[in-house]
Amino acid sequence: MDATGHFVPTVRHMPRQIGIELVRGCNFSCQMCPVTTNAHRETDHFQFIELGLLEKLASEIDRWPSIGLIYFFHFGEPLAHPEFRQCLETLARSEVASKAHVIQHTNGSLLRGEKADAILETNVVKRLVFSFDGFGDKASFEMLRGPHFDRVLKNIRDFTTAARTRRPDLHLATASILPRPGELPSVDTPPRDVALRQLHDLFDPLGVAVEPRDMHNYSGNDVLQISGHMPSRVFGGCKWVEADAIYITVNGWAQPCCAVYSQEFRIGNVTESGLGDLLNAEPMRRIRRSLRLDRRGEVPFCSNCELSLGGSLGPSELQALWKKRDDEGMITDAEERQYIFGKVAPTPHRQTRVDLGCGRVKPPGFIGVDRFPLPGVDLVADLDERLPFDDDSVDLIHASHSLEHVRDLSKVIREVYRISKHGAQICIVAPYYQQTLNLANPYHKQAFNEHTPRFWTVSATTPVDPAEYNDPFARPWGLLESDHSVADIDIRCVKMEFFYFPAYRDLQSHVQRHHRQHQLDVCEQIAYHLLVIKHPISEGEFLEMIRRFEPFESANLIARRKLSGSRQPSSLSEDFDSSREDHRAELDQLRSDRDLLQERLASLSQENQKLQHLLDRECTRPLLRTLVLQSGRRVLHLGRLNRDFFAPKNSQRERTIKMFMRFQRRLRGKSA
Ligand SMILES: C[S@@+](CC[C@H](N)C(=O)[O-])C[C@H]1O[C@@H](n2cnc3c(N)ncnc32)[C@H](O)[C@@H]1O
Ligand code: SF4
Repeated sequence: MDATGHFVPTVRHMPRQIGIELVRGCNFSCQMCPVTTNAHRETDHFQFIELGLLEKLASEIDRWPSIGLIYFFHFGEPLAHPEFRQCLETLARSEVASKAHVIQHTNGSLLRGEKADAILETNVVKRLVFSFDGFGDKASFEMLRGPHFDRVLKNIRDFTTAARTRRPDLHLATASILPRPGELPSVDTPPRDVALRQLHDLFDPLGVAVEPRDMHNYSGNDVLQISGHMPSRVFGGCKWVEADAIYITVNGWAQPCCAVYSQEFRIGNVTESGLGDLLNAEPMRRIRRSLRLDRRGEVPFCSNCELSLGGSLGPSELQALWKKRDDEGMITDAEERQYIFGKVAPTPHRQTRVDLGCGRVKPPGFIGVDRFPLPGVDLVADLDERLPFDDDSVDLIHASHSLEHVRDLSKVIREVYRISKHGAQICIVAPYYQQTLNLANPYHKQAFNEHTPRFWTVSATTPVDPAEYNDPFARPWGLLESDHSVADIDIRCVKMEFFYFPAYRDLQSHVQRHHRQHQLDVCEQIAYHLLVIKHPISEGEFLEMIRRFEPFESANLIARRKLSGSRQPSSLSEDFDSSREDHRAELDQLRSDRDLLQERLASLSQENQKLQHLLDRECTRPLLRTLVLQSGRRVLHLGRLNRDFFAPKNSQRERTIKMFMRFQRRLRGKSA
């Protein structure tokens, strides 16, 4: 929050996934592994992370509660570390790491004795994965991984037996590369279901989940010829980069992903920079940008990589991922927004977003316009002049507490309309007109209440509750032509929200409305969500647009709603549904009250007739007094039946009382 109580968004990538290489090197020489293919380039066959560096990393991890996932290995065999138990113990001392999902992969060859005990006793590893490639038979395993099938399987069997009692929480799985036909020329490739059945036969009895995977072409490993398969579509950014991941090598070099073995693919070193700085510094920003724009050729290590979000996710998953990234405030660059939400995952209202009169609190991803060059302002411009955007160029316009300052609202709204695309969304937040602070504010020149957006359209169709704007002397919703002016714009309100002062927050909405419309200082702020219509559309098309509408909500609006305790249905359709349900329940209640009342009135009039007979026959004073009292009680009882009975101008009450008075007069007349 800043000094004025506003929430100030900070755009920062925070580490969420960490990988730590414990060992660079391996006791196996698997065919498809970059450790094998790069072994000749290494000066030492084995390099191990130093405990001092791991200690530093553990305390750095503790600075980032955002870290939820830790890969405690890279390509090499982590159990080959001579101080393996100490490595686990060091990580376990980190509070964040001990809560995170820590995954370790192993080739299983060293998984016995002291190393196995270390995993079972330190509790820090939550998921242990056995690299077990091939089709579940000895021949294919050994073709891929070397002559270790029996030893590895024995270790896995012994370990899983021990884990069942000593670490029942430890999740066990395989990572099994199933080569596709042609990828392993010297081995017959069985059908996939046969291979899977063989793997399940081996691992199901051990309680180990079988997780098959395809062979993939790791980046930067030119000599790795085993995979001839590149997915036809490599596009849409990188999974690791968008997970805000950092991988640390044994030497402390930080890398953007786990796909590259070479330590040359570096964005800095953890001995010099913190994890947050590494993610937000220039080298990582450049890589992220090139990948988001699908310009992989600009990053040597990525140009050869087949891992891509577009290649692994379906269109709706891809769209959901990018929307989530945007909602987290992670896509601030205009070109990236255009590309991602225009081409990669086409999404309405996401490409070009403009905040008019943004002040210091521009939401992330918006082009900020203000008359002062405040921090966050991208374009210094006067809203009373022509807006600095082309016709039909903007997808979403946000104006929070700024339009009340302009000289000529109609003119500004026409400019807003001009720059908007057909179907663009507009979100206006403004002080509610009927509050004394607003009325006194000399800088506020425009009135905003439930009627304001009626003058921006001629359409009579709106999902806004008619109870908000019904006026016996005005036409339904759209009043743009009400002074015979030309309907030159069409901006339709699809949602309105009111923010109340504390004394009114807990009242039912119709009571709030009644107070708001008749008193000052009930409602402090109003928000409108609007759609720009530039092409002729049918009512059905408009209703469909409303149905798909996802109202933009700034962090300020959400914070303000929490502060004001405003009840906000989670979606527009829920909003409709719940108000329809409310009305239906109210109507049912009124109907049953009415039926009850009619029944009682009928029985009362029957009793009246009986009394009349009785009075006519035997009229004595004490009896009369009792009768008058009895009928009076009936009227009171009737009143209690319906909470509206004593409301002014209740015709049923009027009729009943008149009847009672008449009855009393007649009784008096008789008794006189
Ligand atoms: C009350 S502040 C609101 C700032 C921000 N939108 C928010 O919600 O907190 C009003 C902002 O509108 C800007 N503003 C007022 N009149 C303007 C105009 N004619 N042209 C451009 N900006 C204007 C002011 O400079 C100020 O930053
Ligand atoms: S695209 Fe680049 S950063 Fe992403 S996984 Fe591939 S090599 Fe790594």
